[in-house]
Amino acid sequence: MIDRKTVFKKILIGSALITLGLVLVSVKLSAKNPSPAQDEKQAWKAPAEADSLVNPFADDDKAAKQGKAIFQSLCAICHGPAGRGDGVAGMALNPRPANLTSEKVQSQSDGAIFWKITNGNAPMPTYKETHTDSQRWQLVKYIRTLKAKKK
Ligand code: HEC
Repeated sequence: MIDRKTVFKKILIGSALITLGLVLVSVKLSAKNPSPAQDEKQAWKAPAEADSLVNPFADDDKAAKQGKAIFQSLCAICHGPAGRGDGVAGMALNPRPANLTSEKVQSQSDGAIFWKITNGNAPMPTYKETHTDSQRWQLVKYIRTLKAKKK
């Protein structure tokens, strides 16, 4: 004969197992269906006030050369040697590094591009602490030359 206590214990253990099973299934399901927020990651936009920033090197071709040197040593690894977003270290990133020659980037203001280089947006690093304003403006000046090179 099974007494009431044993039956109660069995029910308790049984329901605990069912609960565990449900938890596991729901964890699996949620891993398969990432939250919509992750899927529809908003496009990265600089704040409107960035548009009013003016590149002090706008007419300085030497600055483009200086920007290029920084670009080749730091940015090319992700954005590619010609800025097309095809650097070796960028292949596995999500989102992928931007194609800096593209209309999407080139149509933005100097100030917006400067703001993005300054602040970053992971996995795009921030260069606020490591580079001076002048160096970041030189990078903007160099990025502008990439459009002209596009064939
Ligand atoms: C670790 C890889 C990595 C490095 C190094 C890197 N970037 Fe990026 N960059 C990215 C990624 C990824 C994005 C896209 C971020 C996003 O859309 O949220 C990006 C975006 C940008 C954008 C914005 C493009 C747009 O769509 O508006 C600019 C401008 C930019 N990078 C410039 C640079 C410059 C200049 C350097 C070097 C000083 C640099 N990046 C270094 C990965 C990198």
